[in-house]
Amino acid sequence: MTFAATILTLYPEMFPGPLGVSLAGRAREEGKWSLDTVQIRDFAIDKHKTVDDTPAGGGAGMVLRVDVLAAAIDHARSLNPEVPVIAMTPRGRPLTQARVRELAAGPGVIVLCGRFEGFDERIFEARDVEEVSIGDIVLSGGEPAAIMLLDACIRLLPGVMGAASSGTEESFEQGLLEYPHYTRPATWEGRTIPEVLRSGDHAKIAAWRKNQSEVDTRLRRPDLWERHEGARVQSASGARRKDEGI
Ligand code: ADE
Repeated sequence: MTFAATILTLYPEMFPGPLGVSLAGRAREEGKWSLDTVQIRDFAIDKHKTVDDTPAGGGAGMVLRVDVLAAAIDHARSLNPEVPVIAMTPRGRPLTQARVRELAAGPGVIVLCGRFEGFDERIFEARDVEEVSIGDIVLSGGEPAAIMLLDACIRLLPGVMGAASSGTEESFEQGLLEYPHYTRPATWEGRTIPEVLRSGDHAKIAAWRKNQSEVDTRLRRPDLWERHEGARVQSASGARRKDEGI
């Protein structure tokens, strides 16, 4: 099955961009995913092809018009009725690897990219649009965020990544950061690769990696660590309750 990506944008020339090379580019050539862009301006209803207007209530910037957006979304949906519509916006729910996995397992996505101050809010309920943010930063538009979202999905599509295990051991898959990596030379500028990684003892290596992953997550991402620990404590107490017949 081909994962079908449709991008609604005022700048279709930004695509495929980085998705045209390397892993994603090759996968597209092989038909593992497809890319279509839709020019939002084509759905403007006046002769000047206006897509935005001043914000109700005043203030800086311009807002994308709901009627124009709705027409563009309806067009994309009519071609691909089964796929979710996602709007890239800093007001959205932060993107997670879990959501990326769900999307990658589905038929594709329609991605709406904003510019200016944002979208007329009414579009989200009226057209069942999921708002997604790629982090607590503000980009000049949703296009780079859409590229990130698609890149994350594409690498998970069947047959895209070489070794299947590289998808499940990596950062966030277990709610933790991945352990650090090393390769030759064994000594570089006086720094050596941790001895255990050269021991050939697979059980010891696995234990070292697990510990490193936990230590790094605790130090670098206390938010992830707290969630991980919360989930661990909860599942342990769930198992206890089950044992006790509660
Ligand atoms: N558009 C502008 N900033 C964004 C962000 N942080 N995430 C998604 N889309 C955006």
